[in-house]
Amino acid sequence: MSEAATPTTATPASIYDPSAEAAEKAVCFRGIWAWLVLILLVALAVAFVMWLLRQIIQGPAYRKLNRIDGKVVIVTGCNTGIGKETVLELARRGAKIYMACRDPARCEAARIEIIDRTQNQQLYNRSLDLGSLESVRNFVARFKTEETRLDLLINNAGVMACPRSLTADGFEQQFGVNHLGHFLLTNLLLDRLKHSAPSRIVVVSSAAHLFGRINREDLMSERKYSKFFGAYSQSKLANILFTRKLAELLQGSNVTVNCCHPGVVRTELNRHFAGPNWAKSALKFVSLFVFKTPRAGAQTSLRLALDPGLECSTGNYYADCLRFPLVPWARNKDNADWLWRESEKLVGLPPIEAPPPPPSAAQNGAPSAAAESIESVVVERSSS
Ligand SMILES: NC(=O)c1ccc[n+]([C@@H]2O[C@H](COP(=O)([O-])OP(=O)(O)OC[C@H]3O[C@@H](n4cnc5c(N)ncnc54)[C@H](OP(=O)(O)O)[C@@H]3O)[C@@H](O)[C@H]2O)c1
Repeated sequence: MSEAATPTTATPASIYDPSAEAAEKAVCFRGIWAWLVLILLVALAVAFVMWLLRQIIQGPAYRKLNRIDGKVVIVTGCNTGIGKETVLELARRGAKIYMACRDPARCEAARIEIIDRTQNQQLYNRSLDLGSLESVRNFVARFKTEETRLDLLINNAGVMACPRSLTADGFEQQFGVNHLGHFLLTNLLLDRLKHSAPSRIVVVSSAAHLFGRINREDLMSERKYSKFFGAYSQSKLANILFTRKLAELLQGSNVTVNCCHPGVVRTELNRHFAGPNWAKSALKFVSLFVFKTPRAGAQTSLRLALDPGLECSTGNYYADCLRFPLVPWARNKDNADWLWRESEKLVGLPPIEAPPPPPSAAQNGAPSAAAESIESVVVERSSS
């Protein structure tokens, strides 16, 4: 039977039941609260997971509080990014720091900011373009008139995935700046480092070395240029081979040299990224969550520079403040030797390795040319 056909005797008052409406409202109200609480819980859970992820991504920090008051330090490429954070922390710990940068105005801005934040007045703005051998030599010449010692050298500056271009001396930009510029700089400063021993060299490399190969036939990428997987990766592999060869050459000198991967860090390193604007903005946004901050990126360099526990560690590779084993091609001695000799020729340094000893001298028990040690050659060359 249809409702319309049924005569209804209910009065309007009996249809309107205030208690039922109140109950309905209460249910509705409770429903809204339940949703709000649920949304809040989900938001809290997401925030917690993101916080946890961020903590993991930022990696461990160097937490020892040791100071290095008055120690003389050079940091390359430190007007921004990882280098700037490294200087900030070293300045807090009392170091006397030479900020070696290619843009004097940007260097000065960073220097003033760091002095402001640390009250350490012993920070110096010095011009160094690693893409010019002349600039490297000028920097070293000036430094040597100012300081008789050097306790810590941090080879931090770098350029990544730029369009193919050449340095002032005609080298492929990334190989020239990241490897050859630092190769010459370090060699020219070895006498100061040895004189100040125990002293340290820190080389900022990259996990990109995993993709790298030393291309003996085309070191300058003239025949084929691949900006990241070719030239950049090769230059970062060169950083590691350089570290290992130098550690071998410095045996017994009390000068250590180690290299590191800082992590994937939110800096200006991707300035040559050539994608469309939306992709650049997307990368910038994503990097907020999944990249390390520059401060976090500086921690491994800081541990290598500061940790008293690493006094004897040399020729090693670190990431996230921990020592990591190297892949075979980053341990390849033949490649390291070849690269060293080639780099010497390219930057115009005399060969470091002495000729093999004449058999008679060795038989007589006289000190062999090799046993005279690479050390003396290093001293001779670095003071030249
Ligand atoms: N960021 C990462 O995710 C990451 C990952 C692995 C390894 N790394 C390595 O970390 C190091 C620091 O990079 P970053 O991330 O801090 O990059 P960044 O913010 O771009 O800083 C690079 C620094 O190097 C300087 N530089 C570039 N070319 C130079 C030259 N020809 N002479 C002297 N200085 C020069 C830059 O000076 P200007 O400002 O004047 O250009 C800048 O101060 C690099 O060696 C890089 O390969 C970084």
